[in-house]
Amino acid sequence: MAKPSVLVTRRWPKAVEAQLQENYQAVLNTNDVPLSPAEFREALRRYDAVLPTVTDRLGPEALDVSGARTKILANYGVGYSHICEPSARSLGVAVTNTPDVLSECTADLAMTLLLMVARRAGEGEREIRSGNWTGWRPTHLIGTKVSGKALGIVGFGRIGQEMARRAHHGFGMKILVHNRSRVAPDVLARCNAEQVDSIDELLPQCDFVSLHCPGGPENRHLLNSRRLDLMKPDAFLINTARGEVIDEFALTQSLMFETIGGAALDVFDGEPRISPDLMQCDNLVMLPHLGSATREAREAMGFRVLDNLSDFFSGRDPRDRVI
Ligand code: DGY
Repeated sequence: MAKPSVLVTRRWPKAVEAQLQENYQAVLNTNDVPLSPAEFREALRRYDAVLPTVTDRLGPEALDVSGARTKILANYGVGYSHICEPSARSLGVAVTNTPDVLSECTADLAMTLLLMVARRAGEGEREIRSGNWTGWRPTHLIGTKVSGKALGIVGFGRIGQEMARRAHHGFGMKILVHNRSRVAPDVLARCNAEQVDSIDELLPQCDFVSLHCPGGPENRHLLNSRRLDLMKPDAFLINTARGEVIDEFALTQSLMFETIGGAALDVFDGEPRISPDLMQCDNLVMLPHLGSATREAREAMGFRVLDNLSDFFSGRDPRDRVI
């Protein structure tokens, strides 16, 4: 029997690409640039499976295609808000993601951001590189102590839980959680965490707030101007989830007028474009979407896609089916 044909929309770690080429008629996007909606529609007509990632904007324009051959979109990544759910459903494709394998690395990066913004590490680095460091002094770049402070976690899935574990066991932080469903008491107990009923209740109590909820229409601008105003004036906001969860215009105002202490972002609305006003804010740390960017996580994500393909093409329901 002929091997199923699969298109990979970006370059992946070599070991995973090699495995894909062994098991499938795999076509790699050697340019490593995102496909246009027209190229994506063409791909849906030609391949049995398409393997997209967060840089593929799969809205109605890309997914509205007649005579599609593709039966599965096996996404490389855990977040899939870039895939329009109603369009995927009307196309009749299965969609899978890659949970678990990147949770620890993404939580490591969220903790890195938290520490960087609290200790003004970005400002310090910029100062040295610009040749403006004049030496140690008692009042220089004074940050905020992290140990023992209150951390609010919005979204208590796998990554949120890993973040809580690091913050509680490593830094003795008090953990408050907001999650759309009730979290099992034993899961909360692992980090001595307390679940609150609403984000509005969580925000005023926290010194740090870290976002770990999904993106997509229901969470768009969850952190809007009204909610940012509920944060303590010296609190910090960390986002390794999706850019659209924060209203960036409102955040820019909060940073400029210092109604919060600072923010640290790994994801941006409309990335890689970043608003010039946001760029001006000194009390902001920015990283270029590095949450899962370790050799280990990126390979494991690829192998998890392979597991999902193997489930699908041997007639089983893929283990990580989300649509
Ligand atoms: C994820 O896995 O969702 C990361 O953000 C990369 O896509």
